[in-house]
Amino acid sequence: MLKAVILIGGPQKGTRFRPLSFEVPKPLFPVAGVPMIQHHIEACAQVPGMQEILLIGFYQPDEPLTQFLETAQQEFNLPVRYLQEFAPLGTGGGLYHFRDQILAGGPEAFFVLNADVCSDFPLNAMLDAHRRQRHPFLLLGTTANRTQSLNYGCIVENPQTHEVLHYVEKPSTFISDIINCGIYLFSPEALKPLRDVFQRNQQDRQLCLALGEDSPGLWPGAGTIRLEQDVFSALAGQGQIYVYLTDGIWSQIKSAGSALYASRLYLGRYEFTHPERLAKHTPGGPQIRGNVYIHPTAKVAPSAVVASVPGGDWTWGSSKSLQGLWSMFLPTAGPQRLHWEGGDSGRGCASPGEHCPPRSHVTGAHVCSAQHRGLGEHRGALGPRGGYRQ
Ligand code: GDD
Repeated sequence: MLKAVILIGGPQKGTRFRPLSFEVPKPLFPVAGVPMIQHHIEACAQVPGMQEILLIGFYQPDEPLTQFLETAQQEFNLPVRYLQEFAPLGTGGGLYHFRDQILAGGPEAFFVLNADVCSDFPLNAMLDAHRRQRHPFLLLGTTANRTQSLNYGCIVENPQTHEVLHYVEKPSTFISDIINCGIYLFSPEALKPLRDVFQRNQQDRQLCLALGEDSPGLWPGAGTIRLEQDVFSALAGQGQIYVYLTDGIWSQIKSAGSALYASRLYLGRYEFTHPERLAKHTPGGPQIRGNVYIHPTAKVAPSAVVASVPGGDWTWGSSKSLQGLWSMFLPTAGPQRLHWEGGDSGRGCASPGEHCPPRSHVTGAHVCSAQHRGLGEHRGALGPRGGYRQ
């Protein structure tokens, strides 16, 4: 029996996602047409023996989140529950705090997934690797170029055994081109080192208090555990942490720009995994070129061309030279009118209120472009192993 935990963070996190994350919590922001973490849940639900999926975070369980949980439970016929941390407990604190719930029923192992990643989630392959050689921690790793690697957890492995010999979270100088994807498979024994960190933090805190050094920042908040620094860095080289390398799709989703890049990766996969989600050309309807998702509430002018062509800017309208990269429709909470200009320049306006000469309009939808820089920093993303792309 297996379980999965998705770390969804909370409202203070994901500020680079503003203003788009104001309407829905970031983990529910649509990526390729479905909430970001639905991709995670779909992948978990396909692992044989998956018993339960737990979301851990510090969001208030508001209406969109509750509604999402209900729908997900029905759709995947699995318990999908939200466990709310009393305060931000870091990437490992919630796992320790809710250990009884995670271990209830005696799972053989549990997946831990960062919410803000896009991946093809090779969970079955990780499980096979784990079953061949059981270790407390198995990390999914991929490769990045030297510069990009500095934005991630970096892993030095033993290439024969794949043991993690050295782990540095976001190093200031180059350590390794293997990076942590934020996708893990833990065995129940993994909770013991978390307990050790918890107890050590408590002792440090009491010591500081006894010395009268009670200023905040001297010790981590009660219950806070940083999985990466407190556990992976500390235990590397001790035979407990292993890496499973993937050459599948992977990228981080930290900003609106990177959400669009992730959408493109998922849209590409839909050809094989969810062809029904891809828009199809219908007689008298808009022209569809490439992998495009159109939200059911979006109304698209029949004269429109919606294009998805890798390698350039997206184009909307009747442009002859489609240098268009891709475009997609993202649902919004309420009906809105959106104007934009198209043409060969590929310039797009992704939010209502921007001043663009109207050429056409949609209702109840946003049109976004991977190249649109005004919405937030695009930190880049990683392609298949060995190939960095932005
Ligand atoms: N429940 C909970 N509580 N979740 C949290 C908390 C918390 O206090 N803080 C962060 N998270 C969640 C975030 O929502 C996100 O899904 C994940 O944990 C990691 O968030 P960050 O702490 O912002 O780390 P990061 O994304 O910069 O880096 C992590 O992910 C990279 C891969 O995307 C690290 O694990 C890196 O090593 C890794 O390369």
